[in-house]
Amino acid sequence: MSRRKLIAANWKMYKTSEDAQKFMRDFLPLISGHTRDEVAVFAPYTVLATTIEAARGSDVRVGAQNMHWEKEGAFTGEVSATMLKSIGCNSVIIGHSERRQYFCETNDTVQKKLRTALDSGIFAIVCVGERLEEREAGQTESVCCSQIGAALRGVARIDVANFVVAYEPVWAIGTGKTATPEMAGEAHAIIRAEAAKSIGNEAAQQLRILYGGSVKPENATILMSQEEIDGALVGGASLDPQSFAKIVKW
Ligand code: PGA
Repeated sequence: MSRRKLIAANWKMYKTSEDAQKFMRDFLPLISGHTRDEVAVFAPYTVLATTIEAARGSDVRVGAQNMHWEKEGAFTGEVSATMLKSIGCNSVIIGHSERRQYFCETNDTVQKKLRTALDSGIFAIVCVGERLEEREAGQTESVCCSQIGAALRGVARIDVANFVVAYEPVWAIGTGKTATPEMAGEAHAIIRAEAAKSIGNEAAQQLRILYGGSVKPENATILMSQEEIDGALVGGASLDPQSFAKIVKW
C-alpha cells in the first residue's frame, strides 16, 4: 500500500508576520518542482492569513496549531473551525504534546476537536506519543493505544483521507534525541493496529502516520525511507527555510 508522504512544519510560538513572509519567499523557490511529497506549514494564528497569502499559487498547505471544538461562544482566547475556514485555513494540528502538557488538552478534548475538524472539512494532524517515564515503565504501547483509541471514537472509515496521525515521542521533541527508525516503526505498527479497531483494517492501511521528534536534514532520509513512516512533523528544523527544504527533499 503506497501512502503519499506529508512533510509538515510546526512553527510553534515563533515568527512574526515579517518572518513568515520572508520564510515563504525563501522557501518556495527551494522546493519548486518538488511534487513527490505533500508539504504543510502550521503557523501561529497571528500569521496565518499572511502565510496563506504568501503560499498562494504553491501546493504548500497552511494550517493552525490548535482550535476549539465549538463553533462559537464565550471562550476567551479561543479560535473555532469556522473562524479558521473564514480566512482560508483548512488544516489544523490537534493534541500536540505541548498542548497536552501545558494547556490541559486531554484525550477527550482531542476527540471533540477531531470530530469538529472532520465535520467542518478541516484536515487534521492528530498527535500522540509517550513521555519518557512512560517509555521507561514499558507503557509506550498502552499510552499510544489509549490516545489513538480515544481520538478515533466516532470516526468513520471514509474520514481516513481527511486526517493523519503524528507519532511524537515526547522525549524526542526539541531534545535532539530521535527515536530510532526501528522504535518509530514499532510504534507506528501499534498505532495502525489500534486504529484498525475503530476504522477497520482497510482504512487503517490507508491512514498516514507521521513521525515527529528532532527530525533534521541529517536524519530525515533514514527516517523517511522506512515503509511505516508516512512523513514528518518538524518543529525546530522547520524554522529555517533551507533546513526545512532539505527535509522536504530527503
Ligand atoms: P522538534 O518538534 O522537531 O523541534 O523536536 C517536533 C514537534 O513538536 O512537532
